[in-house]
Amino acid sequence: MKKALITGITGQDGSYLCEHLLDLGYEVHGIVRRVALEQPEQRLGRLKAVLDKVQIHPANLDSYPSIFHVFSREHFDECYHLAAQSFVAESFADGFSTMATNINGTHYVLAALRELQPQCRFYFAGSSEMFGKVRETPQRESTPFYPRSPYGISKCAGFQLTVNYREAYGMFCCNGILFNHESPRRGLEFVTRKVTRGVARIKAGLASELRLGNLDAKRDWGHARDYITAMHLMLQQPTPDDYVVATGETHSVRELCELAFSEAGLDYRDYVKIDQSVYRPAEVDLLIGDAAKARSVLGWRPHVDFAGLIKEMVHADLEAVGSSPRAELALAGS
Ligand code: NAP
Ligand code: GDD
Repeated sequence: MKKALITGITGQDGSYLCEHLLDLGYEVHGIVRRVALEQPEQRLGRLKAVLDKVQIHPANLDSYPSIFHVFSREHFDECYHLAAQSFVAESFADGFSTMATNINGTHYVLAALRELQPQCRFYFAGSSEMFGKVRETPQRESTPFYPRSPYGISKCAGFQLTVNYREAYGMFCCNGILFNHESPRRGLEFVTRKVTRGVARIKAGLASELRLGNLDAKRDWGHARDYITAMHLMLQQPTPDDYVVATGETHSVRELCELAFSEAGLDYRDYVKIDQSVYRPAEVDLLIGDAAKARSVLGWRPHVDFAGLIKEMVHADLEAVGSSPRAELALAGS
């Protein structure tokens, strides 16, 4: 039985990856911040279905001793380093803590692995945000980075640290360069979930408008459940390498709104209001990835398209807010 450690196991990707590895027969361990153990209902919610099958270690990316301690107690075959301050807008508000967590945290994990278990295979959660002001379209592994946010800069540093540990110490270290991926488990502040949750609340009469920023920004959006399989495949290869993971399709925030509102029988133009305060000081306007290498080497491909993703998210939020057609019917019949 293989043993894997996931940092960021409480997040969107961590929870899906955890389920995937358990399905594959792995023993799964995860690090969580201690505060999560004090509020399991709220902070371990995404792991609800599998919590009794996972071994949890309290640790914080901001503390090298806490990371070192985890690796000194357990031996792992694979380490998926997903924990990060992952919200780009927040990185403009507080670039210092984003840098500290994302850069030092990655360095701590790599340094502890090198010291205690250099044979453990390592995955770093790189991002299309590293391409920023894109130098070519579509973006592939060889496209130069031009980050546009403290978050993007921190991910470039994590990427280079990962390459450096691979080259300097011969460790099996891989970078995934993942384009945006979403799901009903997406955090509420990210635009897809903000929109699908907003639609559900409007439909339920709990809100009358949705305030958004740049509707013309374009992203290559896939489903998180598809993307976490690529992370696992990277660590099963004979040699470590870096891979772009993307759908190869791009859509605007406006298209996202059209689709999500119409899924609930609404017209987004009646509800979406532009809020200048949500605009970012520097924007990434167009992301579209070329995942040809992941397709040919890993045999990876996405299964859920943009329309399918947004439909799933809208219906999950309608259900959660209690305004789904089924819930409405049940209410009407009572
Ligand atoms: P997420 O839902 O925001 O999850 C982030 C995770 O990091 C959470 O488990 C969080 O724990 C943990 N974390 C944050 N700061 C920490 C700290 N100081 N110590 C320990 N844990 C900490 O993010 P995601 O969408 O799953 O993304 C996973 C990774 O992929 C991130 O590194 C993100 O930057 C990267 N990425 C994501 C995408 C995407 O579209 N989703 C694309 C490219 C790259 P708490 O629960 O305690 O907050
Ligand atoms: N969050 C948010 N809220 N974004 C908005 C809004 C709004 O009200 N209105 C427009 N947008 C635009 C943002 O300006 C951005 O161009 C786009 O929607 C997507 O924003 P997010 O969903 O916040 O995601 P992101 O692309 O900045 O970052 C996500 O993807 C990266 C991969 O490219 C995060 O998951 C990062 O962690 C990840 O690395």
